[in-house]
Amino acid sequence: MSIRRTSRRVLLAGGVAVAAVGVAAWYELRQSGGGEAPDPFEPSIGGPFTLVDGAGHAVTDRDLLGKYALVYFGYTSCPDVCPTTLNQVAAALEALGPAGARVTPVFISVDPARDTPAVVAAYVTAFSPRLLGLTGTPAQIAAVAKEYRVYYARHPTGTGPLDYSVDHTSLLYLMGPDGRFIAPLRADQDAAGMAADLRAHIG
Ligand code: NI
Repeated sequence: MSIRRTSRRVLLAGGVAVAAVGVAAWYELRQSGGGEAPDPFEPSIGGPFTLVDGAGHAVTDRDLLGKYALVYFGYTSCPDVCPTTLNQVAAALEALGPAGARVTPVFISVDPARDTPAVVAAYVTAFSPRLLGLTGTPAQIAAVAKEYRVYYARHPTGTGPLDYSVDHTSLLYLMGPDGRFIAPLRADQDAAGMAADLRAHIG
């Protein structure tokens, strides 16, 4: 019994080690910028999605092609992290000037129950008229969050059905004009830091 348990633990540890080496190798390959060969270590972040914009129109991943996209997941009732991040994103893109115009900032709600298209539209407009706010059905949100490896979970703050906050991954995802994931960008930095990160990737 204990032997079996031990070997299972060893197997688990081995798996984690292999995964860690894979991620490290991927970052190194990315840093070295070694050509266009398919990268066996590339974690597949992003993918096809269908969501809804502020006007209630369907938006898919294909609608983002042709420009860079800077994707952030959050929710409009977020007390601090989301509004701070979106403010910095808007300022960073403005600071980049014409280069910033090549990037579509995208906000995807992880709170479909409260974030209707109208709520999301009003919210994103307050940060930047360029910010594309998207929401969807719970199933659509779950699907896109899974593709981006985004964690989100409700935490009750009261007794009502809408009394809750949402814990969520706070990371910016830079996607290329071809729709492929380029790099994660830290969300907890100021506009100058974000602008520098963006400049390093989009030139
Ligand atoms: Ni938030």
